Amino acid sequence: MVCEKLEFDEREDCILRTGRLVLRRPRAGDAARIAELANDRTIAENTVVIPHPYTLGDAEKFVAHVTEAKAETFLAFADIEGVCTMVGCGGFTAQEGDVPTIGYWVGAPYRGRGFATEIARALVDHAFEDMGAERLGVSCRVTNTASRRVIEKCGFQWAGCGLSSSLGFKGSFPVDKFRLERGIWQSLIAWGHGRRARWPVNAVSANAEAEGTR
Ligand SMILES: CC(C)(COP(=O)(O)OP(=O)(O)OC[C@H]1O[C@@H](n2cnc3c(N)ncnc32)[C@H](O)[C@@H]1OP(=O)(O)O)[C@@H](O)C(=O)NCCC(=O)NCCS
Repeated sequence: MVCEKLEFDEREDCILRTGRLVLRRPRAGDAARIAELANDRTIAENTVVIPHPYTLGDAEKFVAHVTEAKAETFLAFADIEGVCTMVGCGGFTAQEGDVPTIGYWVGAPYRGRGFATEIARALVDHAFEDMGAERLGVSCRVTNTASRRVIEKCGFQWAGCGLSSSLGFKGSFPVDKFRLERGIWQSLIAWGHGRRARWPVNAVSANAEAEGTR
């Protein structure tokens, strides 16, 4: 996988790896690429704090903010025709009481390939394995069928309706809210529903560990 060769900044404490993606913290040098992909009305109108149009200045402020806040925010990189390419973004966007919530987007050219599902599952695993979360939340606009599907594929369960404000939508829209409890996530992993069953890299390394080989 070409992205395995990415050089990571030694200050970065956390890198998430999935079968096809490497997720790392945003850096100043990523701003132009973030702006290129995020300057997309579809992203703005389905998320909370992404304006449209989305400028290089917006991307620079975003990177500065998440760096300063040490936010659990990641850029996702995939091998696209032999080039390690940023394809999307995901992270923990807000806290509802004691419940961290996840959010994500994928650049328009890279949709429909399962990348959002892979980003969301990486965030879910990170929350339960590394962050000690007991439950997770996610919301999506009621019209956002693709995101709803991603949420379902991660094992979230519907938990009600609400309204969410959106900078890009310039107002509020109705959302469906979902929850995932640690116990359900553990069961899904045990049943082979999640990353370990579907993502070859982890399956290979798990087998290698079981056999005492690398
Ligand atoms: C929503 C979004 C993240 C999905 O990204 P993606 O990489 O295309 O998602 P995936 O490929 O992992 O999965 C999409 C699923 O939705 C399904 N889907 C897509 N459009 C659909 C539609 N109009 N109707 C029904 N299902 C649809 C796909 O078939 C797929 O399901 P499947 O694997 O069962 O076939 C992407 O469209 C996006 O960034 N949108 C703008 C920002 C956004 O909405 N973010 C989420 C905020 S909650």
